[in-house]
Amino acid sequence: MGRIFSGVQPTGNLHLGNYLGAIQNFVTLQQDHDCIYCVVDLHAVTVWQDPAELTHNTREVTAAYLAAGVDPGQCVIFNQSQVSAHAELAWVLNCVARLGWLNRMTQFKEKAGKHKENASVGLYAYPNLMAADILAYKATHVPVGEDQKQHLELTRDIAQKFNNDYGTDCFPIPEPLIFGAATRVMSLRDGRNKMSKSDPSDMSRINMTDEADAIAKKIRKARTDPDPLPGPEALDAEGRIPAEAEQARPEAYNLLGIYAALVDRPLPEVLGEFEGAQFSQFKEVLTDLAVTVLGPVGSDMKRLTGDAAYVDGVLKAGAERAREITQPILHEVHDIVGFLRA
Ligand code: TYM
Repeated sequence: MGRIFSGVQPTGNLHLGNYLGAIQNFVTLQQDHDCIYCVVDLHAVTVWQDPAELTHNTREVTAAYLAAGVDPGQCVIFNQSQVSAHAELAWVLNCVARLGWLNRMTQFKEKAGKHKENASVGLYAYPNLMAADILAYKATHVPVGEDQKQHLELTRDIAQKFNNDYGTDCFPIPEPLIFGAATRVMSLRDGRNKMSKSDPSDMSRINMTDEADAIAKKIRKARTDPDPLPGPEALDAEGRIPAEAEQARPEAYNLLGIYAALVDRPLPEVLGEFEGAQFSQFKEVLTDLAVTVLGPVGSDMKRLTGDAAYVDGVLKAGAERAREITQPILHEVHDIVGFLRA
């Protein structure tokens, strides 16, 4: 594998979906890869952010990376706005991506809602900036949750079109890395909706900074169905949850997936262990596990978020390394496009 790049928005309420779908995988990948992890503050301001909160949330996402075990000695950790290559390349890619491609982006439709005319231009062009994030490093692999798949496909299309238009092989075509038992963690209140930062109900998600009693309460109150838990025969030959089974019992499979991802064991094994169990019994075991795994991460995160000098130092050093990597790539792009430079 070549180079890994990924990012998380500093928009508050980091939750179990961000942790299991992305941050935990960042840690796994750092062992034997060249990894670059970004706090994407330029993406955050595509919707209104209170400036003081944005600063706080940028430190908090950085703290989450560090608390989860991302090692700044091994990986590059920085915030996007400190490295101008992101915005510069995004402009070139704005001129490569087609309106029709962006019009198909489901996340824009979801975020803009009914008032599309009122959405910022930045929100519309958001996926082009994401393509720039990845391509400014010539990253080859991008660990994300399932909800980012469409954006990654667009990045691939943009890289391909740039290469074709200019007759170059400048950009590698990056692959999404969507792995683990919880690539799409669902809301605890409704298994048909994704667990999300923006859900008005805090009971719908487990935040990375939740204390043990909050985690216990949210799992206890999580929606379930009346049947006992399914066994491994409900899974397909690859050990995955068939779509019909998931549709029939979304909450059950969501909680089982969360358990498997937290304990880091294959889903069929977990279903084997809990086959026929009642939810009340399973929820107790899940609570203990969630508290054991998330408890130390959450408290470390709070401690680090308060240590602004340390966190800001990590970001500054990371930004310097990021600039060193992007500068020759940006020069190469300028030469390819025909921009004159001294
Ligand atoms: P963001 O900040 O919404 O989410 C950060 C990461 O968490 C994953 N995620 C989930 N995974 C599983 N279940 C969930 N319920 C869940 N919710 C969120 C996301 O898939 C993501 O991996 N556009 C990106 C940030 C970004 C980026 C990039 C990512 C900007 N540039 C370049 C990769 C590469 C975003 O909004 O993620």
